[in-house]
Formats: sequence, structure tokens, C-alpha cells
Amino acid sequence: MSVTLNDQSKIPVIGFGTGTAFYGRDCANSIKLAIECGFTHLDGAQIYANEQFLGAGIRAAGKARSELYIVTKLKMPSGAAQVKASLVESLQKLGVEYVDLFLIHSPRPLAPEDNLPKLWQAMEAVHAEGLAKSIGVSNFTVDDLMAIVPGAKTIPSVNQIELHPYVWKAAEPIVKFCLEHGITPASYGGLTPLVRAAGGPVDEVLPPIVERLSKANNKPVTSAQVLGKWILQKGAIIVTTSSKENRIREYLETAKVPDLEAEEIEAIDAAAAPFHKRVFMRQVFGE
Ligand SMILES: NC(=O)c1ccc[n+]([C@@H]2O[C@H](COP(=O)([O-])OP(=O)(O)OC[C@H]3O[C@@H](n4cnc5c(N)ncnc54)[C@H](OP(=O)(O)O)[C@@H]3O)[C@@H](O)[C@H]2O)c1
Repeated sequence: MSVTLNDQSKIPVIGFGTGTAFYGRDCANSIKLAIECGFTHLDGAQIYANEQFLGAGIRAAGKARSELYIVTKLKMPSGAAQVKASLVESLQKLGVEYVDLFLIHSPRPLAPEDNLPKLWQAMEAVHAEGLAKSIGVSNFTVDDLMAIVPGAKTIPSVNQIELHPYVWKAAEPIVKFCLEHGITPASYGGLTPLVRAAGGPVDEVLPPIVERLSKANNKPVTSAQVLGKWILQKGAIIVTTSSKENRIREYLETAKVPDLEAEEIEAIDAAAAPFHKRVFMRQVFGE
């Protein structure tokens, strides 16, 4: 299942990431496994220092380039003058001629000689050259988006942010801005209520939802899938990861799970509201 971006290209709604647990590590076998299980959207970044292993995993899986959706992100701080050279280096490491999506990894830190509009123009240039089929941003607040959107020739296609119930109050204005401006929000860290903040207030709300959906689905639904549906129904796509085949297969089933009811989403949001927990990029969000 995919969604159409503002440049009319299609992005699969769930991506497999090479950051966090795979940071700086050889992830080739996991990439190969993820592709063999059905992932086509692969999320890399220059800062993860493993693009060559992402490329090796892609080659080992042997799937046609046209069937894959490959993402990488500009390491920050990179100056506008370095954008093209850094993307070309990524393409060499990945072993591909273009990426499907190239993101500015974060709005801060900026190179001293740069500002966001200047950096965005350099992104627009690699897009125009076809080195990146789509361009976007990551970890951008509304203010950061406002710094580039009004003067942009190409509106960012994606803003990849930490998005789960425990940051929803802070993320909601960003998601709203994105959806109003045709920017697709992408969620990372989506499983935080299960894996990084277990014991939090959402724990009590999930079991009855899991039970209702398992009956409606005629097969077991997991808490991770419920959180995935929560993300999709907020209008975002999912970037997740796993080293384990059973979880890889579980994630891929998420989009097929029946919808959460509005009251169930409200119950998750209400339970999470008093419990703010941001795991990543606190320095960017000033927390
Ligand atoms: N743009 C950015 O700044 C940024 C920041 C962070 C991440 N990302 C991207 O997003 C991707 C996903 O990030 P994420 O790790 O935050 O995703 P996530 O979906 O929140 O968490 C995935 C992790 O949860 C673990 N997990 C899943 N279910 C579990 C369970 N029931 N019990 C215990 N552990 C469980 C998995 O471990 P197992 O291996 O054991 O399954 C995996 O390491 C990254 O790889 C990266 O590509 C981007």
C-alpha cells in the first residue's frame, strides 16, 4: 500500500529503517531479509554510516531497482555547496543512480554560511537534476517549514518526525501544517510506548483495542500494529525497523488491520497527553 506525494510519486506507507539499532553497523542481512519479506521502502541516512551496507543488502536481495523506494538524508551540518557532492557519494555507497527521496536530516545545526532557504535551493537543484526523485525534510517544526515553504519552487514532499502518542501534543501542529500544505508526515520512533516508555499510561488503553480488532480481523492483532494504525490514521506514514523476521512480517500486516474507531484514537490521545516523552532530537526541538 502506498500514498501519493505532492509531486505525484508514490511512497509505500511503511518503511524499514537503518538507523537506531543499525547505526554504524553492517545491516546488509537485515535489509535482504526485510526485502524478501516484502519491504520495498528503505530508510537510510548519511549520518548512520552504513549506506554501503544498505546498498549491499539491496543487491543481495536482487529486487529490481524500480520496485524499491530508497531514502537517504543529508548529514547536518552540510553547507548548500556540499549537497550535490554528498548525495553523489551516497549514491555511490548505495550503488544506485538516484534515490527516491532525499531529506534534510534536521534543521539544526546549520553550516555557518547557510540558512534554510539557501539549503533548500540546493535540495531543489539535485531534485531538478534527477539525482533525487523527491525531496523533503526531517525533524522540521512549523517555524522551520515556514522558513522554506513560502519561497520554495518545490514544496517538501515529506517531513519525517518522531511521532507516537507520547509526543502527539507537540507534534499535532506540525502534522496539521504538513497536511494543510500537501507535505506527507512520516513517523519514526512510533513504537516508543511499547519499547522505550513501557509502563506508561497508554499500556492500559491498548489491550481492549487489541481484543476488539483481533475479533474484527479474525486473526490476532498486536499492540505494535495498533500503534501503526494510530500513525496511519493521523495521516502519516510509518518508518520502523526490526532485527527479527516475525516482527518484520508483523509490521508489514499493519495496513491491513481494520481501522481504529475515533473513540479509540481519542482514548489513546487522552491517556498519553499528561506523559510527554521525546526520545530523539531533543536538541532540535529545544527540550
Ligand atoms: N529522521 C530521524 O531523525 C530519525 C530518528 C530516529 C529513527 N529514524 C528512522 O526510523 C527508523 C525506525 O526507528 P525506531 O527504532 O525509532 O523505530 P520503532 O518502530 O519505534 O522501533 C523499532 C525497534 O523496536 C523494537 N521492538 C519492536 N517491537 C518490540 C517489542 N514488542 N519488544 C521489544 N522491542 C521491540 C525493535 O527491536 P527488534 O530488532 O528486537 O525487533 C526495533 O529495534 C530508524 O531505523 C531510522 O531509519 C529517523
